[in-house]
Amino acid sequence: MHEFIEKNIGLMGLLIFIVIAMGGLVEITPLLFQTQTTQPAEGVRPYPALQFAGRDIYVREGCYNCHSQMVRPFRAETERYGHYSVAGEFVYDRPFQWGSKRTGPDLARVGGRYTDDWHYAHLMNPRDVVPESNMPAYPWLAERTIDGEAVAARMRAQRDYLGVPYTDEELERAAAEVDGKTEMEALIAYLQGLGVAFQNKR
Ligand code: HEC
Repeated sequence: MHEFIEKNIGLMGLLIFIVIAMGGLVEITPLLFQTQTTQPAEGVRPYPALQFAGRDIYVREGCYNCHSQMVRPFRAETERYGHYSVAGEFVYDRPFQWGSKRTGPDLARVGGRYTDDWHYAHLMNPRDVVPESNMPAYPWLAERTIDGEAVAARMRAQRDYLGVPYTDEELERAAAEVDGKTEMEALIAYLQGLGVAFQNKR
């Protein structure tokens, strides 16, 4: 068989073409689904100012070192956390917070699961609400306040350079919305917004 192909240059040419075409398809096919990964999923909106500020604190404090934000499409995961994560949920996440380590639970759908008061108590000292917790305490977040102008500038950069569709009005009132709020309030607002667009899906 091998010898037969090698002696028929036309047939060999055709087979070489097929092999290369497969490589091409592997690269091209995903591009056909690109809109699915760059269009926001239904109900997903750019982060409002306070949540946006909270997200930066989440990143600064390194919460992603212990928490993922990515529900995998397995029964055990969806039973525990809710609908599995889809690409369109992360279009405004720059950078995304998928994470790869779960010392604590996944947080992709934590929004609305607890009250603001629970989060406050938990972040001040996790052991007060979950005695066996080994999560660190973050009491300083309740003392530090947010610089509204800095948040507004970062939101503007997201719009101007990354195409996040904030309206002029949203950008104008952003600074006033968050100025003087504590970092704790912002982080809790962020946590309470996580995954709410997908909360009721199963
Ligand atoms: C050293 C690892 C570690 C770090 C860092 C960490 N956590 Fe946790 N987190 C945990 C563990 C373990 C739990 C489970 C026990 C508990 O509820 O305290 C948890 C639980 C949680 C929960 C409750 C989730 C649920 O579904 O019950 C939230 C919300 C949370 N963490 C938020 C944060 C935030 C926000 C930060 C960053 C400011 C953070 N965590 C940093 C380990 C960590």
